[in-house]
Amino acid sequence: MGLLEGKVAIVTGAGRGIGAAEARLFSEEGALVLATDIQFRSNLQEIDTASSLLMMHHDVSESESWKIVVDIACSHFGKIDILVNNAAIARYGTLFDQSQQDLENHFRVNQLGTFLGMKAVVPSLAKTKGCIVNTSSIAALRATPGVFGYAGSKWAVRGMSKNAAVELAPLGIRVNTVLPGMIDTQMMRDAGEEAAAQYEQLVPCGRIGTPEEVARVVAFLVSDRASYITGAEFKIDGGLYT
Ligand SMILES: NC(=O)c1ccc[n+]([C@@H]2O[C@H](COP(=O)([O-])OP(=O)(O)OC[C@H]3O[C@@H](n4cnc5c(N)ncnc54)[C@H](O)[C@@H]3O)[C@@H](O)[C@H]2O)c1
Repeated sequence: MGLLEGKVAIVTGAGRGIGAAEARLFSEEGALVLATDIQFRSNLQEIDTASSLLMMHHDVSESESWKIVVDIACSHFGKIDILVNNAAIARYGTLFDQSQQDLENHFRVNQLGTFLGMKAVVPSLAKTKGCIVNTSSIAALRATPGVFGYAGSKWAVRGMSKNAAVELAPLGIRVNTVLPGMIDTQMMRDAGEEAAAQYEQLVPCGRIGTPEEVARVVAFLVSDRASYITGAEFKIDGGLYT
């Protein structure tokens, strides 16, 4: 029996990278998964014959878009047990060269998107005693110059997650946070090969991580095996920020 047998999960930003690995692994572990991404063109696209993994277009920064996602999960799968707020953007730049628009863009997708997602699923999760995993970053553990708007938004995700964990615990809803380090996805590649190679040399484990290595931690956190874990933060960085 899979780790997530009988669970219904929503994973945002599942078009590629870490979110795609999470959606795939959850499905392999027996969950019914609604994978959403702004890149997905169709409103609802069935991608396997058993309909256990669905993909739909979704902009996490739009509250109306969240209503549709929740409606589809409930009407197609009957309930929601799990939300993984994974979608994010990262644009490189310092305080000096990022504009107000850059900051607002990071706020809208990374912070507001996480906030709207939590709000949208709370009524459903209260019924199933479900759980949320929010995706922060090691950029929210200490100063990370060069990703000004991104780092600020990821600190905000940490803060919101802690408050939500305490506020939602009486409803039986768990909220945890993952903080990936350098993971081999398009987002990391956008930093440029030189920056990636420099960081890699600093990682005690001697290599960058894979999306699957993050997905495995998240799968544990959303499973019943983590039933007494809430308000916790899991750094997945090969020891980089130790
Ligand atoms: N890759 C890393 O090294 C790293 C490190 C720390 C944290 N993270 C975090 O992990 C998560 C996944 O990152 P990734 O590396 O897979 O990134 P990625 O850029 O490869 O994938 C992000 C996905 O989010 C989607 N997305 C962007 N804006 C959206 C929106 N408004 N609505 C819905 N979907 C949207 C994109 O289309 C994309 O498919 C992010 O929260 C990121 O901040 C990644």
